[in-house]
Amino acid sequence: MKLCMIGTGYVGLVSGVCFSDVGNTVYCVDKDKKKIDLLNNGIVPIFEPGLEEILKKNHKQKRLIFTTDLKKAVLNSDIIFICVGTPTKKNSNTADLKYVFSVAKDLNKIIKKYKIIVNKSTVPLSTGDQIEKILFNLKKKKLVDIVSNPEFLREGEAIRDFIYPDRVIIGTDSKKANKILKSLYLPIIKKISRYFNTSRRGAELIKYASNAFLATKISFINEIANLCEKAGVDVKDVAAGMGSDQRIGDRFLRAGPAYGGSCFPKDTRALIDTGSKFKTDLSIVKSVVNSNENRKTLLVKRVDKILGANFKNKIITFLGVTFKPNTDDMREASSIPMIKYLNKKSCKIKYYDPSGEKDDFKSFKNVKYCSTISAACLKTDLVILHTEWNDFKQLNFKKLIKKKKFKIYDMRNLYSPLKMKKLDIDYFGVGR
Ligand code: UGA
Repeated sequence: MKLCMIGTGYVGLVSGVCFSDVGNTVYCVDKDKKKIDLLNNGIVPIFEPGLEEILKKNHKQKRLIFTTDLKKAVLNSDIIFICVGTPTKKNSNTADLKYVFSVAKDLNKIIKKYKIIVNKSTVPLSTGDQIEKILFNLKKKKLVDIVSNPEFLREGEAIRDFIYPDRVIIGTDSKKANKILKSLYLPIIKKISRYFNTSRRGAELIKYASNAFLATKISFINEIANLCEKAGVDVKDVAAGMGSDQRIGDRFLRAGPAYGGSCFPKDTRALIDTGSKFKTDLSIVKSVVNSNENRKTLLVKRVDKILGANFKNKIITFLGVTFKPNTDDMREASSIPMIKYLNKKSCKIKYYDPSGEKDDFKSFKNVKYCSTISAACLKTDLVILHTEWNDFKQLNFKKLIKKKKFKIYDMRNLYSPLKMKKLDIDYFGVGR
């Protein structure tokens, strides 16, 4: 099939590359010429393991075309995917839909013959209805079907998530569009996953409800971790014991810092906003957002306690600063408020992250990026294991730090407290 992905951000690029890999011809369109030039030179502007190889292969075989020419791409395609950003509007919780609507207006001018328009951008409930209003005349002439097909890709695992999805959600009442989309997804859904057709509003809500539920699971285990700390119980055991009940499941029950990234914080807030538009009090989601906000302060206070009263000139090492491993993304990373706080307290901060130096900390006087784990750890007073990159899972801290007394705050519970005790290392985890 011939596809057009509008927007070469995370969702558009990963989906476009993967669709081309299963034999489709895919036009990836972006207004940003620099980005298109990079992509045409085989350079991937986002950090996603494995993406570059698949992109280069399909680009060489001419199944993947990068262009700024929206009209040509749309006219040449059967299915158009809207994959543009929906950031939060300034000083509000509402998703900003200006890019989505601007694409819809462009499509309204271009389309002359039947096309399926699939919205993959994360948009609030009823956005599909608004897109349909913009395309009212085309819809009346049966020249378009507007479908919701939310994406469930995790950064760092996006290719696997795309090729082996747990489910493919298609929100449409059109039998014709559903049939075509089912055949598009056939090579993927053959592999154990589920293809699920529902209403367009249903699909839109599934996306937000899924992210809010996962955020709830994380916040729940984080609060249980707080209780474990007070009660002398290991939260990892509690999560394992709870998770082996298949109704609960053990995934997303890892206690740690406040959840971050470009999705959970934004989508939980947007869902609350949708709730109020539909006059529904989503009190559980509200509590989750609150709990996650409080967690940022709570963990900073824990660092206070670990360090004791004397902060001045203490050297603190952050291993990992991104919101999760296998990404360079710093959006809503809990390391940001933490480092800001410690910096104010006149600590000296060194950090290492496998994805490199971060602009977020460049203006701070006492925050230094180190290009190796050993440089970051040398002679430090406290190591904060902030992000669970594989690189940090088998470290010999005594050898690295080369100092008699130091402390470790393992925010991802990567190490065994018992082993640390045997090594006579002052070790603190989360919920244990
Ligand atoms: C999330 C969802 O997992 C995807 O399904 C969804 O498609 C995506 O948002 C999106 O809406 O685009 P992502 O933000 O890439 O994906 O990252 P996650 O792996 O879900 O992690 C989010 C945050 O939760 C991270 O800060 C991570 O450290 C934290 N987390 C995750 C925990 O603290 N504990 C866990 O057990 C799992």
